[in-house]
Amino acid sequence: MIYSRITGTGSYLPDKVLTNQDLEKIVDTTDQWIRERTGISKRHIVAENQSTVDLAEYAARRALKAAGRDAQDIDLIIVATTTPDRVFPSTACLLQKRLDRHGCAAFDIQAVCTGFVYAVGVADKFIKTGAAKCALVVGAEVLSRVLDWTDRGTCVLFGDGSGAVIIEAGDEPGILSTHLHADGAYESLLTVAGGVGQGYASLLDGNGYVSMKGNEVFKVAVNTLGRIVDETLEANQLEKSDIDWLIPHQANIRIIQATAKKLKMSMERVVVTVGEHGNTSSASVPLALDVAVRDGRVKRGETLLMEAFGGGFTWGSILLKF
Ligand code: ACO
Repeated sequence: MIYSRITGTGSYLPDKVLTNQDLEKIVDTTDQWIRERTGISKRHIVAENQSTVDLAEYAARRALKAAGRDAQDIDLIIVATTTPDRVFPSTACLLQKRLDRHGCAAFDIQAVCTGFVYAVGVADKFIKTGAAKCALVVGAEVLSRVLDWTDRGTCVLFGDGSGAVIIEAGDEPGILSTHLHADGAYESLLTVAGGVGQGYASLLDGNGYVSMKGNEVFKVAVNTLGRIVDETLEANQLEKSDIDWLIPHQANIRIIQATAKKLKMSMERVVVTVGEHGNTSSASVPLALDVAVRDGRVKRGETLLMEAFGGGFTWGSILLKF
């Protein structure tokens, strides 16, 4: 039996910090409103001369170093992103060039905030079937570039950043399960409605920016994340008390608290970075994981539950022994 295991983590946040106080000068909002409704106090914003592949490269190199691996060891590159540098080639191919790694499979996955969970699910299957031995999986986003900075309902929620993991084949578990779901019936509740497939004109008139029915997204997210927790525990015949750490998608502190309550978990066992990072979409779970690994909270041998929910809607979970 081949198992797959995370052997290194890395992340990157751009230098520029945008606080709630900075946002008060841009839109009709207050620090208090943003903190009370979302838990966010600041977020990082990409520099003008940076793009998604730059953020991805930093996180990838840090993950490689943490795993004690060289770029030449990688035989699969998956980048989860909603904000790719180009229509094509994929950001994964651009990253592959930066890493000077030629020939291995490289592709992007687009599942919005659930992108990293989807990408790990795919990499896990590549490894467990013997198709790859050492995968680089990255979540990287420049959400600030698809925000309408006059829309207070969305621009206060998101931030830019990246996170990465190296996943390797081994004799011991590892990734115990991944569960991936989607329901496209909800496509209109959270969307960037334009896209090149509809012609460039479709991106005009605000359709190139995030639009969201926040209240409705919130309700579905809370219910759905509760269900995926049950599904994951049941599939692995585990009890809630078997989970050492919950590492959730960082969209809103109230959604995170609702999931922790469902798990009967104290917030001390939940990794929360939304206050400092905002919602970085597919980067949020690997960023939170890397923060908790590097500050010593998450230790080898512990059981981690990661979950995410995002546009599509898409949702999913990863259960693993770290
Ligand atoms: N500052 C001040 N007031 C605001 C702001 C703001 N930034 N944004 C909205 N408001 C106002 C609204 O206009 C509204 O005013 P009104 O009552 O006069 O009409 C009032 O605040 C309440 O608005 P609601 O949308 O009902 O506020 P709610 O409590 O639902 O909070 C929020 C909004 C934070 C967006 C919440 O619905 C939410 O977090 N939803 C989840 C969405 C999300 O996280 N999406 C990200 C991707 S999906 C995912 O990752 C889970």
